[in-house]
Amino acid sequence: LNIAVMAGGNSSEANISLKSAAQISGWLDSNRFNAYTILVKGNSWTLEHASLGSIPVDKNNFTVDINGELLQFHCALIAIHGTPGENGLLQAYFEMLQIPYTTGGVMNSSVTFNKYYCKELVRETGVNLAKGLLLRRGQKVDVQAILDTLGLPIFVKPNESGSSYGVSKVKQATDLMPAIEKAFAEDKTIILEEFIPGREFTCGVFKYQNGEMIMPVTEIVPEAEFFDYEAKYQNKSKEITPAPIPESLTSAIQQFTSKIYDRLQCRGVVRVDYIVNNDKIYFLEINTVPGMSEASIIPQQVKAMGGNMRQFFTLIINDALN
Ligand code: DAL
Ligand code: MG
Repeated sequence: LNIAVMAGGNSSEANISLKSAAQISGWLDSNRFNAYTILVKGNSWTLEHASLGSIPVDKNNFTVDINGELLQFHCALIAIHGTPGENGLLQAYFEMLQIPYTTGGVMNSSVTFNKYYCKELVRETGVNLAKGLLLRRGQKVDVQAILDTLGLPIFVKPNESGSSYGVSKVKQATDLMPAIEKAFAEDKTIILEEFIPGREFTCGVFKYQNGEMIMPVTEIVPEAEFFDYEAKYQNKSKEITPAPIPESLTSAIQQFTSKIYDRLQCRGVVRVDYIVNNDKIYFLEINTVPGMSEASIIPQQVKAMGGNMRQFFTLIINDALN
């Protein structure tokens, strides 16, 4: 089977995607799958060939002409974080072409990528949510009203973006406007959230036709002020799997993760991030194309379950083909 490992993308997370894609290609079982890296950079889509270099993809039918031979793909393995891999765009493209792919569908991807709307849907599961406000670019900002509603500190985040790009923790009122500008540099809508102090946890889940894997919980112990880009990707945080917490808390986090997966109609593997404050579990965000780099958490959780990544991705592709 020919597998297109979709890599790159058009967001600040493109570099992380390259790392995820390289790991995944190495994990795929070469007895069953021929893995091809498809690099997406704006309008340029190319197959990265070991000896022939970059070969353009025909986007009309998602094929590649390799020296006169037409290569077609049986499945797209989406490893692009951020746009267009995590927000429904690629999903819609592959739906149109009727090519199976490894993530949730168009609605699932676009709604989960929108932090504000995602929280509104997740609310029904009973998980706690930080108070939040949505701002659109150009909208008048009433600093006093924001402070009255959210207090300090305030988290300022682009509404649609990952890996903590453009995120600030604002501790004094005078820092609020610069933080808002910084977030608007990443996105045209941003969210402001009350700060919930506590410990940070994350939990992966993958449900398929004949089973489900609700993974162990990982605690993220940041050395930086919050789990920012540096902490995530330059090993400036410590991750502990399974998290050193009572069994009851582990199982509560796992149950929310499972409910959230169903509520949002996810597919494939996703990872849900939380803050726990005095035993109250707050939903932070969901990653429907979670990182798969060496430093990433899902591979750690799969290993902690006694699984291996080769089998794991065989299951993911089989599920996409079903
Ligand atoms: N958005 C990154 C890749 C993650 O959280 O895994
Ligand atoms: Mg993310």
